[in-house]
Amino acid sequence: MFSAFHRKTLVGILTLAFLFQSFLVYSDDRQEPLSEDALEGRNLWHQNSCQVCHQIYGQGGFLGPDLTNVASNIERSRLESLLTVGSGQMPAYYFSSQEISYMASYLDALDKPELGRGQLRMGTKIEGAGPWGSFGAIVATQMEEIDPNISEGYRIFGSRACGVCHAPLSESLVGAPDLSMAVENLTRGELSEVLTTGRPNLGMPAPFPQLEGAEIGSLISFLEWLSDNRPALEDQLLGGSRYQESIEWKNIPWWEFR
Ligand code: HEC
Ligand code: HEC
Repeated sequence: MFSAFHRKTLVGILTLAFLFQSFLVYSDDRQEPLSEDALEGRNLWHQNSCQVCHQIYGQGGFLGPDLTNVASNIERSRLESLLTVGSGQMPAYYFSSQEISYMASYLDALDKPELGRGQLRMGTKIEGAGPWGSFGAIVATQMEEIDPNISEGYRIFGSRACGVCHAPLSESLVGAPDLSMAVENLTRGELSEVLTTGRPNLGMPAPFPQLEGAEIGSLISFLEWLSDNRPALEDQLLGGSRYQESIEWKNIPWWEFR
């Protein structure tokens, strides 16, 4: 069902993401040392392959929850029971109380909300963290006044993972344009065309499965709303404290992955 082009695009995106992350890892000059206990915890984390099911800052497996900020959200008794007898699909590890303490130190060291929050899921949904997450938090405060057609367009934008390539109110790292300018640059007819056939040779895939007429209409209403509200949205996105809740990749202490 995937065309060769889709596959190439996907591989391209994954490669870029990988290179970008490698760049961040190797350009990291903030090597905050871990405490002895936290280092022991990290060893246990690696030895037991916790990352197969859990993510840190959105990186890892998806069977279990993101654990970036779990330390401040979990009772010690629950942590103890999880790391001994397990729960549901979380296997039993029968950790000793010493091992549980090491793991707790490691999870504590990871939990730095001032650097950004976990639960980053690329493309799957707009709510939550990441640049579209901050944007979503702003939009959520305005949803009541928004025309249902616009919020429907925003919902489609999220469910079709347009935000994987396009960034809010700016050109993205992969070169996808700022969509708040789209209605100024393109006529309605041209917009419909892009949203139907894409521009495959320029990196914009045709939405698949194809968008229906009404969905295109809603998406365009959303783009018009973006354009009309650009200055206010930009102020809130860049100036607001909400922006701090998104991940600041540069500041993440990458030691946790070593
Ligand atoms: C096979 C997949 C799997 C592995 C491996 C795994 N977990 Fe889990 N983990 C889960 C699932 C699923 C849950 C959710 C369980 C529940 O809510 O009942 C969970 C829950 C947790 C939670 C609670 C999260 C919360 O927000 O309440 C912690 C903490 C945790 N795991 C730590 C670990 C650590 C540390 C390791 C490695 C020693 C590990 N897990 C290995 C699947 C896994
Ligand atoms: C795989 C990455 C990718 C995805 C996914 C993607 N786009 Fe694009 N999009 C691009 C690129 C790259 C361009 C610029 C193409 C060009 O140079 O003309 C673009 C261009 C556009 C344009 C024209 C903007 C302009 O000013 O010329 C619109 C509108 C658009 N995209 C909307 C969307 C919508 C809505 C979705 C979700 C249904 C989406 N895109 C999904 C990469 C993507």
